[in-house]
Amino acid sequence: MERFRVEGGHRLAGEVRVHCAKNAVLPILAGAILADDPTTLLDCPDIADVNNMVRILQTLGCKVSAQGAALRVDASSIQSDTMPEGLSKRLRSSVFMMGALLGRLRRAVVPYPGGCEIGQRPIDLHLAGLTALGVDIREEGGLVVCDGARMRGGEVHLDYPSVGATENVMMAAARIPGRTVIYNAAREPEIADLQRFLNACGARIAGAGSATIEIEGVRRMHGATYRPMPDRIEAGTLLAAAAATGGEVELTDAPVEELGAVIAKLREMGCRIETGAGRVTFVAPQRLDSPGQVITLPYPGFPTDMQAQMLALTCCARGTSIITETVFENRFTHVGDLRRMGANIVVKDRTAIVRGVRSLHGARVYARDLRGGAALLIAGLAARGETVVEGAEIVDRGYERLEQMLSGLGAQIRRERQTDE
Ligand code: EPZ
Repeated sequence: MERFRVEGGHRLAGEVRVHCAKNAVLPILAGAILADDPTTLLDCPDIADVNNMVRILQTLGCKVSAQGAALRVDASSIQSDTMPEGLSKRLRSSVFMMGALLGRLRRAVVPYPGGCEIGQRPIDLHLAGLTALGVDIREEGGLVVCDGARMRGGEVHLDYPSVGATENVMMAAARIPGRTVIYNAAREPEIADLQRFLNACGARIAGAGSATIEIEGVRRMHGATYRPMPDRIEAGTLLAAAAATGGEVELTDAPVEELGAVIAKLREMGCRIETGAGRVTFVAPQRLDSPGQVITLPYPGFPTDMQAQMLALTCCARGTSIITETVFENRFTHVGDLRRMGANIVVKDRTAIVRGVRSLHGARVYARDLRGGAALLIAGLAARGETVVEGAEIVDRGYERLEQMLSGLGAQIRRERQTDE
């Protein structure tokens, strides 16, 4: 087990390059098995979730090799349609494999994905979407057994714009006969990135990024070389870290358009932000103003994956902030630890009321989920004294050596192996 040790009060300054997006790379790795020839993904982040997805592909019989930061996936020898139990449980996004396996092999056996720290994470919308394409789905002893022998294109109406369900249906429909239309599709940018990748492999998909996506099934798909889009949540997290310390940073390779809702909130808090092609220039005030209301919503609303980081920022902002989490049912796991650092937060149902205090003080806190862990690091950067964040491996699931990026900007932060103490 590892932890981060942070000494607060150091202003962040400098330039940092944003990695490729975890939430683009994961579905694209699943989609790679739809190609009959090898695909190469450039600049993949070295994070636990990506490494687990690679292991899943290898277990299914794909050859996956790393060439520097590039991943080469050769699915020509894929022979299993049954997902490995242990790895699938560890990685929620293994659920994307359902659509890809059905698209490639017309069959998928996937362990029922467990909930996780932020909520139940059901897959009813995924299963309803696949059923609309003619997939016969049975649940047997914790396994979801999908028989796609009779799959045909069709109309899929999602009750909720689920990112994963949208991506699963896109991948299942890519290589089946007929036309599929997804209504009330999720509009997250990572879905448009998946469309770009699949079309580079010969798929015929249009509309991703809007609420209606059309897929013309094709008989085969070839390989491609593709660089996934930059990570808007990593970029937002870095801006929040700078904002917490009154800092001044420059992001390069940043997904500027896709950061709109986050940039708008940070401007409301008094930050000066200029954007250019792939660049964000950011200057924070000495003390932030409250943004007032923050409500997480499906894209293009304020992203749920930035809620914890934003909540941490409001702890020392001038005024009271009302933060409402509408996407997941249990995504305030970081509040207790922030209170231990001196924050004044009251949570009622899905709303947190945060009354800004002058400063937080260091404490020993625990990362309970990926973005909550990042939020505690951000609080530690601003707090007086030293903060220890236990559970570095939880943060490593979604960030490539976050402590190195932060220390490169002047943070006093280091990673420690947990001794027995
Ligand atoms: C993706 O998860 C992201 N993960 C999440 O990022 C992100 O928070 C989420 O989209 C929303 O933007 C990846 O892309 C790998 P959903 P996903 O299906 O697809 C409910 C991070 O920190 N729902 O849009 O699982 C669900 O319970 C992670 O990087 C159903 O009820 O999200 C949730 O309340 C966390 N039934 C809501 O919809 C279903 O069948 C949104 O879930 C599916 C989802």
